[in-house]
Amino acid sequence: MNRAAKPRRTIEAMRKRLIFALDVPTEREALRLVDLLRDEVGLFKVGKQLFVSSGPDIVKKIRRRHAEVFLDLKFHDIPRTVAKAAAEATKLGVSMLDVHAAGSVDMMRQTAREVTKMARLRGIKRPKLLAITVLTSLNREDLDRVGVHSSVENQVARLAKLARLCGMDGVVASPQEVVRIRRECGPRFLIVTPGVRPASADIEDQKRVMTPEQAIRAGAKYLVIGSPIRNAADPAAAARAIVAEMQRGTRLPRKG
Ligand code: C5P
Repeated sequence: MNRAAKPRRTIEAMRKRLIFALDVPTEREALRLVDLLRDEVGLFKVGKQLFVSSGPDIVKKIRRRHAEVFLDLKFHDIPRTVAKAAAEATKLGVSMLDVHAAGSVDMMRQTAREVTKMARLRGIKRPKLLAITVLTSLNREDLDRVGVHSSVENQVARLAKLARLCGMDGVVASPQEVVRIRRECGPRFLIVTPGVRPASADIEDQKRVMTPEQAIRAGAKYLVIGSPIRNAADPAAAARAIVAEMQRGTRLPRKG
């Protein structure tokens, strides 16, 4: 085997696992970033701000540039409404989309069914379905106020297991929850992790963050990173440095 090929392959595998958050207000700015970063990251995350400002066309335009899309609209509604919206997202050609696990067993099951049906009908790959467990902005007190009397970690684990049973491919979760979810949901369940900061970044007062190396080592499959790349003087170089940090997380930890 060509020895030099292996690290390159690992870098390529890591690149596919980096999701860049397109948290910008206009289509123009979003497409500028896609052109700049499409060879450096695996997917582009389109969230509510960009989707509301630019409409579904933004997804089509990103796809036309041969880049993959995670449609992060966090659907939560009655089962039929969410299932039909997810089927429309499938038609747009997204690679990943998410719904709230708290939306119910029926909502997740119907969504999985409709998305699979639509993908077959169109002869396209079925998008990965992710569930939101507990938003990273919520703490125990917030849960208590809405009648959930459980720790954040236990509630995350409960909803992750439920999502898995309902045909979801994985969850979006904060770095702190990765080890527990991995333990409870097995090695194949996808864990997509925001709240990641490169080792060089100023993390200010953010306590619930990990570096890319730590998050991969903990068992995250995909990392969502926005501002550290977007605000860098050279966003492409920043993305490459993050991929290199991710790769370090796949190596055996150094002793001592
Ligand atoms: O902070 P950054 O720009 O890297 O965030 C990227 C994405 O991750 C954002 O779109 C945000 O929705 C999500 N995020 C999150 N929880 C956090 C931080 C960010 O869900 N604690």
